[in-house]
Amino acid sequence: MPQSPISKRIYHQATKHSYLSVQLDPNYVDAATQPSSFKVYPKFYRRVKLNLNNQIHSFISLTSAVTLEKMYKEGAVKLRVNPSAGALYPTEVYIQIRNIEGFINGIYHLEVENNCLTLIYELIDDGLESYIIPGKSINGFIFLISCVYYRSSWKYKDRSLRYCWLDSGHHLGAIAASAYIHDREIQLIFDFDKLALNTDLGFENKEFITACAISGEIEDKKVRNLRLKVPFVCGTDYFEANEFIEQGYQNTSLQPSRQQKLVHPQFNFDKDKFFQTVWMRRSIRRFYKQSIPQESYWQLWQQFQQPIPTENFEEIEIYSVVHHVRGMTPGIYKGKHLLKAGNFSEKTGYLCINQAIVRDSAVTLFFTSDYINYPTAMLIAGFLGQRVYLISNFMGIHCSGIGAFYDDETQEFLGTNQDVLYAIAIGI
Ligand SMILES: Cc1cc2nc3c(=O)[nH]c(=O)nc-3n(C[C@H](O)[C@H](O)[C@H](O)COP(=O)(O)O)c2cc1C
Repeated sequence: MPQSPISKRIYHQATKHSYLSVQLDPNYVDAATQPSSFKVYPKFYRRVKLNLNNQIHSFISLTSAVTLEKMYKEGAVKLRVNPSAGALYPTEVYIQIRNIEGFINGIYHLEVENNCLTLIYELIDDGLESYIIPGKSINGFIFLISCVYYRSSWKYKDRSLRYCWLDSGHHLGAIAASAYIHDREIQLIFDFDKLALNTDLGFENKEFITACAISGEIEDKKVRNLRLKVPFVCGTDYFEANEFIEQGYQNTSLQPSRQQKLVHPQFNFDKDKFFQTVWMRRSIRRFYKQSIPQESYWQLWQQFQQPIPTENFEEIEIYSVVHHVRGMTPGIYKGKHLLKAGNFSEKTGYLCINQAIVRDSAVTLFFTSDYINYPTAMLIAGFLGQRVYLISNFMGIHCSGIGAFYDDETQEFLGTNQDVLYAIAIGI
């Protein structure tokens, strides 16, 4: 059933921050109680260690690799190619591999902590295609992104519903980046039978599929649903249910998105340098209020607006609040059009919950949308966020995703009726 215009916005509305809501609940948690952020299937499953000298292994590994280990007094945090709100990493990746030399046809869990694939299901005449693109068979790869939501709801409570989708979008962006480096095309799919898949993959109420990416040759061939259920394995060491998140996911997951024609982006980066960029990508922790050149800024825009390879789509509008770009009037822009001149550094810093990183950035981008399907809009916002990270880092500009802002005040400041989905600060 199509949702009414009010109900499609209900989960955004219900997870808004305001000055008051943040004062009342500043999200303080005891770090010692953080649930585990790596899922590991039992040791009796067969495993394939990923060897970076093998192109297929490298393609898979680079979608999720740990790239830096940081020591804190509470213990080590393993940072990855994909950023994540609060470094809580709710996302997991499953990969169906069919007719690829050196691999058993099956569904594998990508065990990020140990850089290996765990074979959790062997295919016969069945597979994931029947849930995702019925009537077709894919010789190649089907990536499924899921969320072990408690890793994020542990800290961010109901608002983590947003972060599950944004983080999943970033993870899709990491898959797209690895595909680009390894000369593969991918297609993103958002509209498919996620609920049936959650059941058959044995996720219970603790993990849910958010998105899919396919890469390979598509053949007209009927494949049947998985003939066996995969046993349940918990992605955290303990769990507390959040009914709002479970319902929010269930109620939005079968709603169709807008449709568009599939068009692939055509990037032309130096691939060795791009590989280094993916490997070294980090969220910046402070900016020095330095200006970035205008040419770099527009180059970033041009690259970042390349097509998103998907038929399921929601349009994202981009507002940029320019603080320090050489040769540009500071102010609020919609695309290239100046809406309101002025120095809004302090104001945007305040709107993003008094974050100095936003105040001191060269530009803060805000993604808004008039969506039909909220999860798809959030996933695309996260996917674009990953693009901004990689393109800006490639150009020597730093970046950080910003998921925390006062929603209504930001909307009013930008002068839009559209929901503000995500923000990104860039600068030096
Ligand atoms: C959806 C999302 C929201 C984020 N929100 C913020 C934020 O509000 N403030 C901030 O300083 N960093 C934010 N970050 C950056 C994360 O803190 C960062 O990705 C994480 O600590 C891992 O570090 P890394 O990106 O350097 O690997 C966000 C990242 C994502 C993906």
